[in-house]
Amino acid sequence: MKILTVVGARPNFMKAAPIIAAINEHNERISTKYADRREQPVETTQHILVHTGQHYDDLMSGSFFSDLKLPRPDVHLGVGSGSHAVQTAEIMKKFEEVLLREKPDVVVVVGDVNSTLACALVAAKISFDSVGSRSLIVHVEAGLRSFDRSMPEEINRILTDHVSDLLFVTEESGFQNLRNEGVSPDRIHFVGNTMIDSLLAFKEKAESSTILEELGLRTQAGKNGAGNSINRYALLTLHRPTNVDNRDAFLNILAGLEELAADCPIVFPVHPRTQRRIKEFGLESHLGMNGTKIKGDARDSGNRRHGIILTNPLGYLDFLCLMKHARLVVTDSGGIQEETTCLGIPCVTVRENTERPVTVESGTNTIAGTKKESINDAIRRQKVRRTSGGVPKKWDGQAATRIVDVFIRTYHEKALSRQSLIPQTCA
Ligand code: UD1
Repeated sequence: MKILTVVGARPNFMKAAPIIAAINEHNERISTKYADRREQPVETTQHILVHTGQHYDDLMSGSFFSDLKLPRPDVHLGVGSGSHAVQTAEIMKKFEEVLLREKPDVVVVVGDVNSTLACALVAAKISFDSVGSRSLIVHVEAGLRSFDRSMPEEINRILTDHVSDLLFVTEESGFQNLRNEGVSPDRIHFVGNTMIDSLLAFKEKAESSTILEELGLRTQAGKNGAGNSINRYALLTLHRPTNVDNRDAFLNILAGLEELAADCPIVFPVHPRTQRRIKEFGLESHLGMNGTKIKGDARDSGNRRHGIILTNPLGYLDFLCLMKHARLVVTDSGGIQEETTCLGIPCVTVRENTERPVTVESGTNTIAGTKKESINDAIRRQKVRRTSGGVPKKWDGQAATRIVDVFIRTYHEKALSRQSLIPQTCA
């Protein structure tokens, strides 16, 4: 059985890593089980990792491979940046060649980035032979809906879900959303969250990061033997086009952070898109940034006016370490809402909506909107929050194992020879 997994952009890496690890464990179990027997072993799986190259910088991609112990991609499409249409089309053209060459039994796509949709779409429309055989398409992190179609990710989610055969959801809302859209329940599996699998697997290792020292956030032990103490700080990420591509919108958010910045340092690892906008809009002075330092050492903590510490994008372990010890996280990311929920760290989401309602209902997240006053109010409320929230159902580090069990079983049970892999219809 040949399984092909696609990754392309930063948030894909931590979602795919546990699936690849679970496939390897499956193979090891089978090899051990049949090592001493004469009978033919149950089929092991061959795995192929394809990187589209949507994200290509070491800081956005390479460092995650080493931090997460991901294998080197077997195929790198080297697509790079472009408009949505150009990027999606380039991935589709190059991925089609890979699919026709490899003819995998299963294609796994994760999350909601352009690479996810592009590859799912190619896999759904390809024919390996004259009877329309194709791979089984597996979407991990299916069913999430913000109900805001101005987000490119929402379009990617809806379309990917509707061309996929097996849909793995992270929270119960995902199941309900897919049912409301007419997807047959036998295609949907509530398995938990592979991003949380990674978080739980690397939570302790993140403690070996030296990022707190490098940013001057850990006070060294005194001579009297008193332990190290970590200073109070907040963590900020912003990269959504609606928040950073418009000068006024960006300024509004920065204004909403002023009170917090006066109270404690805010560590701000800046996404490449946001770095570009800061320069283009001349916002360096608002951030106390001199524009050259941000290009230098990612650990440069020299830019501290108004309590904002700017860094380049950080690796997985450094960022996880910062999240674990932050007093508060302010973000427009999807994944960080989930990670802070699992860690019990108060999170203020600078958006009008979330596709991850479980992080608000049973977690530590609050949706602040994007106006100065509402952001400031949400921060004030979250700073005094006492409850740690709860960890959502099945966010227990076992999601990838469940996923791999289901798709291997489905493949064998239905005897999904390529001939039978004709697109399924919705209920
Ligand atoms: C993409 C995803 C978004 C995800 C985010 C995480 C889509 C539609 N969006 O958005 O869901 O939350 O990744 O980062 O797929 N750039 C670099 N180096 C890189 C990659 C990008 O400098 O390695 C710059 C390029 O100038 C590029 C810009 O960042 O134009 C944006 O990159 P892009 O992949 O288009 O989208 P993201 O904003 O990163």
